Amino acid sequence: MLKLENIQKTFPSGSRTITVLSDIDLLIRARSTVAIIGPSGSGKTTLLGLCAGLDRPTAGRVLFNDIDLGPLTEDQLADIRRDQTGFVFQTFRLLPSLTAKENVMIPAELKGDPQAAARADELLDQVGLSERRTHYPRQLSGGEQQRVALARAFINQPKIIFADEPTGNLDDETGQHILDLLFGLNRDQGTTLMVVTHDHALTERVQSIVTLKSGRIVATRATGHR
Ligand SMILES: Nc1ncnc2c1ncn2[C@@H]1O[C@H](COP(=O)(O)OP(=O)(O)O)[C@@H](O)[C@H]1O
Ligand SMILES: [Mg+2]
Repeated sequence: MLKLENIQKTFPSGSRTITVLSDIDLLIRARSTVAIIGPSGSGKTTLLGLCAGLDRPTAGRVLFNDIDLGPLTEDQLADIRRDQTGFVFQTFRLLPSLTAKENVMIPAELKGDPQAAARADELLDQVGLSERRTHYPRQLSGGEQQRVALARAFINQPKIIFADEPTGNLDDETGQHILDLLFGLNRDQGTTLMVVTHDHALTERVQSIVTLKSGRIVATRATGHR
């Protein structure tokens, strides 16, 4: 599904460069579930961004289903992100001027999918928000907003979901509900899941856990879950 080969990522910082990721080799199999853990600043979000084609490595290769993302143009990367990936963020990132349903529909509409509205209704139903379709994000609780974001992430039937601390802004009980929905949708749709987290309730549900420290992978552990 996803293969990282000897990835390095540096950022210019004044007259110096800071190295954020080094010597990253990682293989993520189709339909697997992987958590990325590690201290704040260890490079987790940067790594997720490289995997998702949101950003490019300074050195090394990212292969998405055997396609090397390096030579692709920004438009080609954007097409892959839209058609094959879904994103969930800690801060939900819904568009405030659009209703719940309109937010969910966006990725499908960008593709010109005639089923966009019907699929949005179906997904909002799956996350238990049928009654909230016409509500705006400000009228929804944090947990409800994240449920809308989950529906949006899955609408184009992606191959892989990237989630960056999806329960980070939620209380434990709401977070558990979001995880039930995220893992349930992931299982139903046969999606691959790569999730950055500090949440122990989440690491208990994935098949493998990758630990980053100062931009390096220091441990990779299979949990035995299926
Ligand atoms: N665009 C950027 N420019 C400069 N430094 C960055 C940029 N993005 C991230 N960093 C730095 O990279 C390091 C890792 O950041 P990040 O990937 O967000 O870590 P984590 O998600 O594990 O907290 C941090 O020191 C951060 O300041
Ligand atoms: Mg982060």
